[in-house]
Amino acid sequence: MIIEPRMRGFICLTSHPKGCEKNVLNQIDYVKSKGKIAGAKKVLVIGASTGFGLASRITSAFGSDAATIGVFFEKAPAEGKTASPGYYNSLAFEAAAKNAGLYAKSINGDAFSNEVKAQTIDLIKADLGQIDLVIYSLASPVRQHPVTGVLHRSVLKPIGDTFTDKTVDFHTGIVSDVTITPCNDEDIANTVEVMGGEDWQMWMDALLDAGVLADGAMTVAYSYIGPKVTEPVYRKGTIGMAKDHLEATAFKITDDLAKIGGKAFVSVNKALVTQASSAIPVIPLYISLLYKIMKAKGTHEGCIEQIQRLFSARLYTNGSIPVDEKGRIRIDDWEMDEAVQKEVAELWKGATTENLPAIGDLNGYKSDFSSLFGFGFDGVDYAADANEMVEIPGLI
Ligand code: NAD
Ligand code: NA
Repeated sequence: MIIEPRMRGFICLTSHPKGCEKNVLNQIDYVKSKGKIAGAKKVLVIGASTGFGLASRITSAFGSDAATIGVFFEKAPAEGKTASPGYYNSLAFEAAAKNAGLYAKSINGDAFSNEVKAQTIDLIKADLGQIDLVIYSLASPVRQHPVTGVLHRSVLKPIGDTFTDKTVDFHTGIVSDVTITPCNDEDIANTVEVMGGEDWQMWMDALLDAGVLADGAMTVAYSYIGPKVTEPVYRKGTIGMAKDHLEATAFKITDDLAKIGGKAFVSVNKALVTQASSAIPVIPLYISLLYKIMKAKGTHEGCIEQIQRLFSARLYTNGSIPVDEKGRIRIDDWEMDEAVQKEVAELWKGATTENLPAIGDLNGYKSDFSSLFGFGFDGVDYAADANEMVEIPGLI
């Protein structure tokens, strides 16, 4: 079957196995090109198949020769349907890890459930004994609570006031106003249930109780802050309340890990095109302006550059881990650079459908979005038959 992109709004219905493989191999090459990192040797990545989580798994394996267990929720290929990109990414990652003589196994299931936590613990006990690093990189619109059974849905809404500002439909390039009505109290609670820190805490409690965390084990979850223009829908909106909760949870987990000398951190990462971020209104316009400016300055990074720098220049240096006044690791420093932000704010005011192709990096946005699904890679023959019926060898 020849696989072509079929875009529907914020998602693409198809994904390309060879393109996803190329995406993974490119990231592996990047990590190798930067040299070794004296990092963890046994790593669990929760949300390991795409975005920052995949980059964390690749950086651990190919930067520090780590054994990795990846947990994710992806669709396997079915008759006439391609798999979700994270499935192909993980297939490619496992093949490359095996070639390099590195242990890699994956669990495809709902990370919010007790079952997947128990399965993961069993696998650690059977194969690795103990883990030194746990990366928590889930992004999901829903969570079924493992105790109450309630299905919580997160929302992306402002709190208090109706919000109106510009956004761009990155497929058409049309800049228009978007108006979002404020959330209710239930929306905040639900979003915190899904994207806050409770599940991270549950994972760390379960791992600690099972005795599968090594002395000095570390855990890192990812957060975002961003600029003034996205504040009402992001950091001061419902999702921001969840991120506040996640950040506060790091301190609680650090307290719990004290008995093994462990520590929990939140790393604030840069805005990037991922499946999660494309669905947030206003963010795509911000990202297209930001990319243009950062590329011109030579400071632009993708997920793999961000995570390689996080591991090599923050987590695993000889010194202590630098944090901001709220205890967070900042790897969004180049995004939040004052001059960069000033320029974005200026461009934002005048951005229109007509001038966006010139003042923003809409093409960069589109091409990054296509890449998420394995499309648009050099060296991939998209006209060739792609056999999409494949199974991940180490899949549990
Ligand atoms: P992503 O959509 O690329 O990755 C999400 C991962 O979670 C995938 O591996 C997916 O399979 C997994 N997942 C989702 N639901 C699951 C479930 N129920 N069980 C098991 N696995 C599940 O997202 P991303 O952009 O890499 O986001 C990861 C984290 O980074 C999030 O906390 C996000 O807020 C944060 N972050 C993102 C950005 C950005 O701009 N994209 C910036 C800073 C921080
Ligand atoms: Na991820």
